Amino acid sequence: MNVTGMRPSAADFSVNPFVPYVGTVLDVIEETPAIKTFRVCLDEREAWERFTFIPGQVAQLSIFGVGEATFVINSPPSCRDYLQFSVMRAGEVTNRLHGLSVGDKVGVRGPLGNGFNVEPMKGKNIFFVGGGIGMAPLRTLFLHMLDHRNDFGAISLLYGARSPQDLSYSYELPQWLERADLSVTLTIDREAPDWPHRVGLIPHVLADLAPSPDNAVAIVCGPPIMIRFTVEALQKLGFGPHDIVTTLERRMKCGIGLCGRCNIGTKYVCVDGPVFTLAELQSLPDEL
Ligand SMILES: Cc1cc2nc3c(=O)[nH]c(=O)nc-3n(C[C@H](O)[C@H](O)[C@H](O)COP(=O)(O)OP(=O)(O)OC[C@H]3O[C@@H](n4cnc5c(N)ncnc54)[C@H](O)[C@@H]3O)c2cc1C
Ligand code: FES
Repeated sequence: MNVTGMRPSAADFSVNPFVPYVGTVLDVIEETPAIKTFRVCLDEREAWERFTFIPGQVAQLSIFGVGEATFVINSPPSCRDYLQFSVMRAGEVTNRLHGLSVGDKVGVRGPLGNGFNVEPMKGKNIFFVGGGIGMAPLRTLFLHMLDHRNDFGAISLLYGARSPQDLSYSYELPQWLERADLSVTLTIDREAPDWPHRVGLIPHVLADLAPSPDNAVAIVCGPPIMIRFTVEALQKLGFGPHDIVTTLERRMKCGIGLCGRCNIGTKYVCVDGPVFTLAELQSLPDEL
């Protein structure tokens, strides 16, 4: 089964793919001390109406005169009010993005990349595993699946962060925890006062939850070290390489398969990814 999305990139080649759309920041949410979420709408009405994407696709967000960086669009495709990006402070562009306020202008180049191929996941049990900022690519697919809840079997989410303060989307978690048609488990690395959920590293909690691999797909996003140990734990539980899906954060520049910045062997993360099955990753040179 191939559970990754379409190629090539959905960049619109009828216009110059290097020229960003101009967008306005509609809202800024302080998620954690290191992560801010930005809700952005494109200024040009026609461009906004044309802008469609599938869960897992990304965009290059730019600050004019500073530079651009890649972020997953973490609102679901059904949201037609804004595009949502969650940005972790890492360096030049992300620091400047953190300084933005409502009404400020940004550039948006996208949608780019393959996204998740949802069709083969229909009818299956879905197990999401997210760590830290890795919850961003999961959020768009998770919300998309909730929009189409009857198309899927059991939906479970294991989401972990270092501490309660490092959990993004904390304002949404209570409603996800309450839903009878979802199973949501939260974990933090070390004990914290009044924390009512799990304590422990994600791969350990996963081994304890022991989801069944039967008719199931696991979708894992997070820091590379977390992905590595989580994938090992999933394999021990019996998940096969075609049923483990993850995203790669190879640095990108053009975003449309031209510059060669993001390639691993013959694959370009910007058009063949960022979503890959473990089976696909195993066929790539060991450069990760
Ligand atoms: C497909 C994809 C999706 C992404 N989605 C998100 C997202 O939703 N939210 C988010 O916060 N970030 C995301 N990122 C990472 C984000 O693009 C980088 O953090 C950003 O480019 C850093 O830009 P900067 O100018 O602030 O940092 P720079 O000044 O360029 O770099 C600061 C430091 O971070 C390192 N670095 C920068 N980018 C990367 C990278 N991609 N991988 C490893 N190290 C890196 C640099 O080597 C340097 O040490 C994504 C990246 C990719 C490729
Ligand atoms: S970023 Fe240029 S080829 Fe992928």
